[in-house]
Amino acid sequence: MYISNIGLDEPQRLAVMAQLQARLSDALDLAAQLKQAHWNVKGANFHQLHLLFDTIFVATEAHVDLLAERIVTLGGTADGRVQTTTRATSLAAYPIDAKLGEQHASAIGRSLADFAASVRVDIDIAAEKGDAGTADLFTEISRSVDKHLWFIEAHLHS
Ligand SMILES: [Fe+2]
Repeated sequence: MYISNIGLDEPQRLAVMAQLQARLSDALDLAAQLKQAHWNVKGANFHQLHLLFDTIFVATEAHVDLLAERIVTLGGTADGRVQTTTRATSLAAYPIDAKLGEQHASAIGRSLADFAASVRVDIDIAAEKGDAGTADLFTEISRSVDKHLWFIEAHLHS
């Protein structure tokens, strides 16, 4: 924990940083899952989904950066190590046998929905701890993830 004049006390900062770190691990996992889908999707909607998964990957990479840099802003150390991500992610492991568009869309949809649910809880925790800046950061991510979940779920209607 580094000294900072940010105006939030140490217990506040520690509580919020724990949420940020948990979502950082999830977001790094989600980014890897999106590339997995981008590379391996097959079937009639190949091109559309190939591009969509990459669009969401780019947004997720931006979220990774927001989360990590907020941790450091609060005086902490962002832990983006692969080993930490593997241990800490709360997302289900990506199915290696996913092949067709629906299979990839449903796996990504589940991860996005789980991530979105966690971020919604984070918004409330950050607000409760008096850190409106972090609550706003989580809100921005939440809105983006919700939109991308819509894009994915639109592919799952028959
Ligand atoms: Fe690519």
